[in-house]
Amino acid sequence: MNGEHRQQPLLLGGFEIYQNWLNVDMQAGLIEAARNVAAAAPLFRPETRFGKQMSVRMTSAGHWGWIADAGGYRYAPRHPSGVEWPPIPEPLIEIWQVLTGLERQPDSCLINFYGENARMGLHQDKDEASFEWPVLSISLGDDALFRIGGTERRAPTQSVWLRSGDVVIMGGAARLRHHGVDRIRHGSSRLLPDGGRVNLTLRIVEA
Ligand code: SIN
Ligand code: MN
Repeated sequence: MNGEHRQQPLLLGGFEIYQNWLNVDMQAGLIEAARNVAAAAPLFRPETRFGKQMSVRMTSAGHWGWIADAGGYRYAPRHPSGVEWPPIPEPLIEIWQVLTGLERQPDSCLINFYGENARMGLHQDKDEASFEWPVLSISLGDDALFRIGGTERRAPTQSVWLRSGDVVIMGGAARLRHHGVDRIRHGSSRLLPDGGRVNLTLRIVEA
């Protein structure tokens, strides 16, 4: 981490992008932590409300995890298999504290895995009870073309490549901006031996 000399973030559409914030050892540790979560609560492919499978595979840690099926998009206290979500790995809580300065801790960590052809359409994060808290997003593995729009769906967008070790804070007036991942550059990072990208987002879901 870059905790001692506070790095100035790149500001794009109100999102704060801390480029290369996590060193390679930290990145590898977080991949290991994500693997442990997925061993207990396996990655699954969420379904849109139209019954179509998303290209991203997901799981979660914390009191709440995100699920999507014919019943809609929502936070749930259990994995679709019925097991409880594992606790949020401690290093993630530290990153949250250093970068947000908040006393309140996240109660959810979404884990997204992007294989070669995975993407995520433009969306807002609005299933949380309150939008006063930021969402902190960590990129690991392959580069991702990240698109940032406005609070209105049709607002103009801008794009930035997120790389392994980058941390983005989506908060304040930008909290409800649309965002998505157009594509990844498969094999651009060696963090995961078979390529792919892991995105971790820390959130406060409960009121
Ligand atoms: C998300 O919006 O939940 C994921 C963003 C990302 O993968 O960078
Ligand atoms: Mn999102």
